[in-house]
Amino acid sequence: MLNEKEIRRWLTAKEIGGGLEIHGLLDSTNNRAKALAAAGAPHGLAVIADAQSGGRGRLGRSFFSPEHAGVYMTVILRPDCTPDRAGLLTSLAAVAAARAVEKVSGADVKIKWVNDLYLNGRKICGILTEAGQAPEGGRLDWAVVGIGINAGRMAFPEELRETATSVCNETGTAPDRNRLIAEVLNELDSLYGDLETGAFLEESRRRSNVIGRTVTVIGGGRQYSARAVDIDDRGRLVVETEEGRTCLDSGEVSLKLAGGE
Ligand code: BTN
Repeated sequence: MLNEKEIRRWLTAKEIGGGLEIHGLLDSTNNRAKALAAAGAPHGLAVIADAQSGGRGRLGRSFFSPEHAGVYMTVILRPDCTPDRAGLLTSLAAVAAARAVEKVSGADVKIKWVNDLYLNGRKICGILTEAGQAPEGGRLDWAVVGIGINAGRMAFPEELRETATSVCNETGTAPDRNRLIAEVLNELDSLYGDLETGAFLEESRRRSNVIGRTVTVIGGGRQYSARAVDIDDRGRLVVETEEGRTCLDSGEVSLKLAGGE
């Protein structure tokens, strides 16, 4: 079971995870974290749940969040940046979660730009970043970064069976969720100082299962095929079609990889 003492046993982070709020069931850890952030909760507070009844993903999708097997956590951040930098938080969190999963399982984790982690060609983790802007000044007041990891053995509903998996389903061993939570917080803490420079983007490129492949880009009422060629210094995906190169912002599009991923 999730347990604050056990999480703290593994926690080396200095700021992030300074406060931990642990629940049995929430509708969504992002919803709870957004309410806390708007009410003035401090940078680094993490909201964690054993299960979610209304787990949310990008573009209005739901996130399968059964009890006892997943990691559902949202961290409140107070970055001093403009809203256009908020997308970089998702890339930073993807690298942090990939490192954490790798550390506890030894598995080789890939990043499907911009917010999904993959293991053996199927999704094991999704990330949802949401932000609130200060009324004046055009700076971010807060951001919440929600991370969902399919950790233990999981039986997925029919519609997810082809595309989703869990760390345990792939490796045969269920990671200790308390340790996994702590390692995510530790990695977020160690990468957070690089938000300005985007130094972690090099690791996003290296872990990418998208760069060099043909993708279907879906968004803005259209769908087209393109070749993914790079991730730029603002965390945007650079794609190439016969018409030339375009940089895609994470808020706008979703991707399908050839082969169904
Ligand atoms: C996606 O797959 O599009 C993103 C999924 C993000 C899921 C996590 S689970 C913890 C946090 N709470 C939510 O409601 N969503 C995020």
